[in-house]
Amino acid sequence: MKRDKSFVYGVATAAYQIEGAISEDGRVPSVWDTYCTMPGRIYNGDSGDIACDHYHRYKEDIALMAELGVNSYRFSIAWSRIYSAKGVYNENGMRFYRDILAELKKYNIAPSVTLYHFDLPQWAQDLGGWENRECAEWYNEYARKCFDELGADVPMWITHNEPWCASFLSYMEGTLAPGYTNMEKALKAAHHQLLSHGMAIKSFREMGLPGQIGITLNPAPIYAESGSFRDDIARTAQDGYRNRWFFDPLFGKGYPRDIAMLFAARCGTSFDFIQVGDSDVISTPIDFLGLNFYSHTVVRYRSSCYLLNEDGHTDLPKTDMGWDICPETLVDLIQRIRLDYTDIPIYITENGCALKDCVEDGAIHDSERADYILRHLETIRNINRKGLNIKGYYCWTLMDNFEWACGYGKRFGLVYVDYETQQRIPKDSFYAYKGYIEKNPDIC
Ligand code: FCB
Repeated sequence: MKRDKSFVYGVATAAYQIEGAISEDGRVPSVWDTYCTMPGRIYNGDSGDIACDHYHRYKEDIALMAELGVNSYRFSIAWSRIYSAKGVYNENGMRFYRDILAELKKYNIAPSVTLYHFDLPQWAQDLGGWENRECAEWYNEYARKCFDELGADVPMWITHNEPWCASFLSYMEGTLAPGYTNMEKALKAAHHQLLSHGMAIKSFREMGLPGQIGITLNPAPIYAESGSFRDDIARTAQDGYRNRWFFDPLFGKGYPRDIAMLFAARCGTSFDFIQVGDSDVISTPIDFLGLNFYSHTVVRYRSSCYLLNEDGHTDLPKTDMGWDICPETLVDLIQRIRLDYTDIPIYITENGCALKDCVEDGAIHDSERADYILRHLETIRNINRKGLNIKGYYCWTLMDNFEWACGYGKRFGLVYVDYETQQRIPKDSFYAYKGYIEKNPDIC
């Protein structure tokens, strides 16, 4: 596989996790504003009402990115700032993102824009949300508007962030907004999100825009806890659920039949929401693949579990989220994607870890995070030595922020945020990443 040597180093954020300013300049509520008001859903009753107040402090935050030395910034647009109701465009909301692009330009930081990062406008949810096929049309209208208004200045677009989370975790496991626990709802949501992705890619091509466009998935390499037949069944089921349900249709193979049969057996769905022709739309070619990689998944068989598997045990060190630290398993994941699906460029669009950081004498000594990041960068370097073409790395995340159901209880930032004062303090990991970028302008 041929690749040029330039490498993208970035940081990633998402609108609801950092912006705050939830009712300014015509923004309307999203499903997250609603979810945060439901008792018991969010750790400590937290919400994104203020978050990092990035809406007002974006200049300071972009200056921090410049100091860090990244050449790209991945952020998301809040759909609920851009459309205040079905078909009602809000120019005041778009202005904020134009300001962000202008500020990034000053420092020569390339924007990478995610159109959808979990935050469906509540008006769309009230009309049935992602369970409603029409939601794909509303999304496409929103995407076209963003392409039209910002397209000349955006080299990299991401249609969706982690549709597995935005469908199964949101509609079946109930741990993200809107918080449902119904498998058929989740299957519909996943399908309509994938469909909307394909529609937006088609729009992008039709409009002849200059940038590149792709999607971000969060697959995991899946391992069986033991070498037994039953644990291999568990691995196959988890792989179908987490990985193949998204990779297969996106790369032209259609939905995998084995896991479809398991889904149908569990919830009795008729799959009538999948229409003839949808798979062609979903598999419209993309320019790159984004991957969010944090950890692997180890499973074991349990027949009483919905999808025949449950988390298995490992002795590996864990982050504050309880996720295993296992950078080398990224090699397996990339090799598998290259073998089974595609050779388009891959970007690691998120990677990072939560730790219990605390300020000591005005500094944050998070050597574990620095180590986590540097080990992943070294793994990427090894992957590229095998010629497997990873084009960029975005650290999650610039600064501590609202970590969805975990509220402000989990800190992932390179920069510490004191939520009382909104003071930003770069952690040791910030300087470690900065040093790595300086020493390694090209990664291979
Ligand atoms: C990912 C999300 C991101 C962040 C990290 C920790 O699943 O895309 O917004 O919460 O996890």
